[in-house]
Amino acid sequence: MRVLVTGGGGFIGSHLVDALLARGDEPVVLDDWSGGSRDNLPPGVETLDMDVADPRTVSAIAALRPDGIIHGAAQVSVPRSMADPDRDRAVNVVGTAHVLAGAREAGSPRVVFLSTGGGIYGESDGADEMTLPQPKSYYSAHKYLAERYLEYSGLPYAIARLANVYGPRQRSDLEGGVVAIFTERLSAGQPITIYGSGEQYRDFVYVADVVDAVLTMLDSSVDGMWNVATGEATTVNALLAALQERLGSASAIVHEPPRPGDVFASRLSIDRIKADLGWSPRYDLAAGLDAMLK
Ligand SMILES: NC(=O)c1ccc[n+]([C@@H]2O[C@H](COP(=O)([O-])OP(=O)(O)OC[C@H]3O[C@@H](n4cnc5c(N)ncnc54)[C@H](O)[C@@H]3O)[C@@H](O)[C@H]2O)c1
Repeated sequence: MRVLVTGGGGFIGSHLVDALLARGDEPVVLDDWSGGSRDNLPPGVETLDMDVADPRTVSAIAALRPDGIIHGAAQVSVPRSMADPDRDRAVNVVGTAHVLAGAREAGSPRVVFLSTGGGIYGESDGADEMTLPQPKSYYSAHKYLAERYLEYSGLPYAIARLANVYGPRQRSDLEGGVVAIFTERLSAGQPITIYGSGEQYRDFVYVADVVDAVLTMLDSSVDGMWNVATGEATTVNALLAALQERLGSASAIVHEPPRPGDVFASRLSIDRIKADLGWSPRYDLAAGLDAMLK
């Protein structure tokens, strides 16, 4: 099966490409390389060098005629979305509309969209898919809007509301990737900065589990929206302790005031995806960190 992976040169997208190749599918990557890298991809993968905000995306997808689409290309930075909401909208909303129009012209393959549970729910402790969305940034609001485009498109679709994903190839220079940032700084003997008390918590899900969930959604014929998470809360302090156990103690820990816009609590319910699709995560935090650092 030929599967178009938009954003396939990025962190999550490149793991999806690996998994598709491993099971005998033919992934094609559409990426503008603004955040991803060709080094993330094995040699020989077909690529379309394109910005999804460019309307020519529609005809490019129509010509490709993929059997399935995973749409992960996105402006992923919350601060950048606040500084330049127009660009965020052009990529995350209009870009998604282009991908959907291309899909329609290509014969209506199934589209799986990588959305954000952490961003859409705002403060959450066990948010499920019926929880009132309270996006606190243009990024999250635009992701929420893009989800509606999927729903109204008439195409077969699935929406993956991802929690905080971590694993190999996650960039440490972007905000949000706290696991990647701590790992890099501990490995380099650099001090660690914690914003606030460190008792704020997140739902950290390992990238291999996310790949499994997204491919399960691609293969399913059920339309819908599912959280992809562990259902477990891990405080930033607990995360740091787990990483220090594996990488050695931090040279120093610096506390700074909480950053504006950061939520304190983020944990998602995974009851719906378990019931509907039979998916549950295989990696708890310890197993995920061990796999990442192997
Ligand atoms: N990493 C997480 O914890 C997380 C959580 C929730 C949702 N998501 C979503 O998952 C998807 C992948 O995120 P990631 O963490 O792998 O980030 P990433 O930055 O590694 O991947 C995004 C990819 O999209 C590409 N891209 C960006 N703008 C583009 C454009 N205009 N046209 C074409 N390609 C473009 C980038 O070059 C990159 O390869 C995104 O849609 C993101 O919103 C990620």
